[in-house]
Amino acid sequence: MKKQKKPLGLYIHIPFCLKKCAYCDFYSCTGADPDLVHHYISSCMLQMEDISESCRGYEIDTVYIGGGTPTTLPIKEFERLLSAVERNFKLSRYAEITTEVNPATADKKYLKALHKLGVNRLSIGFQSANISELELLGRIHTVEDFANMYKDARAAGFDNISVDLMYGIPAQSVQSFQSTLEYVCNMNPEHLSLYCLKIEEGTPFYEMQNTLELPGEDAEYDMYMWAVDYLKKRGYDRYEISNFAKPGLESRHNLKYWNADEYIGIGTAAHSYFGGERYSVIKNIYDFIDGIEIPETNMRLIEGSKTLSFRERMSEYVMLRMRLDAGVNAEDFAELFGTDFHAFCGKHLDEYVKDGFVIRQGGNYRFSSKGMFVSNYILSTVLDFAPGNSFA
Ligand SMILES: C[S@@+](CC[C@H](N)C(=O)[O-])C[C@H]1O[C@@H](n2cnc3c(N)ncnc32)[C@H](O)[C@@H]1O
Ligand code: SF4
Repeated sequence: MKKQKKPLGLYIHIPFCLKKCAYCDFYSCTGADPDLVHHYISSCMLQMEDISESCRGYEIDTVYIGGGTPTTLPIKEFERLLSAVERNFKLSRYAEITTEVNPATADKKYLKALHKLGVNRLSIGFQSANISELELLGRIHTVEDFANMYKDARAAGFDNISVDLMYGIPAQSVQSFQSTLEYVCNMNPEHLSLYCLKIEEGTPFYEMQNTLELPGEDAEYDMYMWAVDYLKKRGYDRYEISNFAKPGLESRHNLKYWNADEYIGIGTAAHSYFGGERYSVIKNIYDFIDGIEIPETNMRLIEGSKTLSFRERMSEYVMLRMRLDAGVNAEDFAELFGTDFHAFCGKHLDEYVKDGFVIRQGGNYRFSSKGMFVSNYILSTVLDFAPGNSFA
């Protein structure tokens, strides 16, 4: 009998943007010339060749091309990249193949070509349907650009579209956020991601944070709670803190992150979880290219490599799974780790049940909506208590 291949996710990082947004600290550069872009894609292809042998027992069932802005790539480069995926790995016929798109970077012809290449899911960065908010964020597109791109994407055959939105934007009111959500729901995407604006060190927003009119935690809480209710009425289930989908249309790739399933990252700054090890590729385009092309320079391509201890694996499992609406099931935990969940951290989660932050149904623990909003705080407290944990 043929041995069943194990599923594997593939992430490819495209570190190019037309302009940096004022809030974003994802690794990307602007103004790259076509030679650098071509060279970078060649290096990603070589990296795939290098790791293909270690992935022999696997079948790629999700591909996620993220960035940066993957759609700044000329379509020819996209084609080289995807043909390298097919050449070097066993790619499932049913693979979910997603690319992130910025509304200013993909026209009708480009979207049609992407679809023809096999991309079957788009994640569109929209952020807001309010033009003043878009301008303040430093976005390079208008609301109309988004609407046109969305229409073109449907016409090109995309039947699985996700839209990224942000809340907690400077000067954003609860009403303005509500209008954005209403606007997007009327377009009927299959999936929505709602991110609370985080002020990241090293970004223009970080430098000017004292002058930004940030809405504050209470308003952010109101926006989140309203969104969860509203989206439910519009047919979207929250399946993860920030992610909502029509039934059955959750992001299969992102679910791998929260289920602690295996994935491999290609390109600079890409993360992997493979063979029980977590690691990332160095965050520098030029060092990445050199490290791939001239291995004898001993350029260290991989950084932060870590094989998780047993306790770290248990803590990480709880951290990731509690992000999901499904939460953690004590029996599954015991089966996976041979450890009693209640003794490990369940008894501390119990302390949050009476105030309505955690919902417990038998052996199943999950966060309520208000619990989701403060989940980082609760989990760091609860896991700090976990026996033998140095994890804070
Ligand atoms: C890696 S970005 C790629 C999206 C694509 N480049 C675009 O901007 O159109 C993915 C998403 O992360 C979110 N994001 C980036 N920086 C953030 C921040 N500081 N706080 C909250 N969300 C952020 C945005 O919603 C963005 O669409
Ligand atoms: S949000 Fe997207 S377009 Fe803006 S800088 Fe980040 S990756 Fe680039």
